[in-house]
Amino acid sequence: MSEDEFGRVTGVWGRHCVPLLYDPFLLFAELRGLRRLRSELVGQAGGRVVELGAGTGLNMKHYVGVERLVLTEPEPGMATRLEQRLERSAVRGEVVTAPAEQLPFDDGSFDTVVATLVFCTVSDPHGALRETRRVLAPGGRLLFLEHVRADAGSRLELWQDRSYRPWRAFAYGCRCNQRTLELIGAAGLRATEVGTARWRGMPQIVHPIVYGKAETV
Ligand SMILES: C[S@@+](CC[C@H](N)C(=O)[O-])C[C@H]1O[C@@H](n2cnc3c(N)ncnc32)[C@H](O)[C@@H]1O
Repeated sequence: MSEDEFGRVTGVWGRHCVPLLYDPFLLFAELRGLRRLRSELVGQAGGRVVELGAGTGLNMKHYVGVERLVLTEPEPGMATRLEQRLERSAVRGEVVTAPAEQLPFDDGSFDTVVATLVFCTVSDPHGALRETRRVLAPGGRLLFLEHVRADAGSRLELWQDRSYRPWRAFAYGCRCNQRTLELIGAAGLRATEVGTARWRGMPQIVHPIVYGKAETV
């Protein structure tokens, strides 16, 4: 198997298998609590909304009464599945093929940015968060849900560091040991109402989850 510059396994696995296996792989975890968390978080989206790295569209059905919905996704295989789900759904929106680091939108053009399980995967999380801040209108907010690095000094943190490379190759670029909350703060966004949870039904190295809102400061 070959890897790209970000340590992701490319070729048939990345292009075809990951998009095909994504929903079945997550199903157990969705049923064990993630779907409820998605619903509570994404249900708060309002106004003009853009979602980053929307994947196969597992958040789609939780958007209610938003003014405009743009679902971005850079991977062609995922974007195809996203479009298929949007066509089957009652939700009105558009799919834009773009990476979170280079959003093709004007400054301040959205009231809500949604990112779930994305900043762990983007090649440049600093760049993606800079773009998030740029496209947010004054008073706008980021709604996030991310798995993160375990508590400092814990056994799990050690395992996350050990599993980093194989997990990253398997999970198409995902970093299991990233301090995403700190990155959000470093981008000039203030996280509020932060909750923690466990991503049950998934390997332990991605159990610690943080979710909440972040506003521009
Ligand atoms: C773990 S999946 C999460 C998908 C979806 N957000 C969800 O909650 O199910 C990570 C997603 O990030 C996408 N991705 C990878 N690189 C990206 C980038 N540079 N910008 C935006 N999304 C990216 C992947 O294609 C994939 O769809």
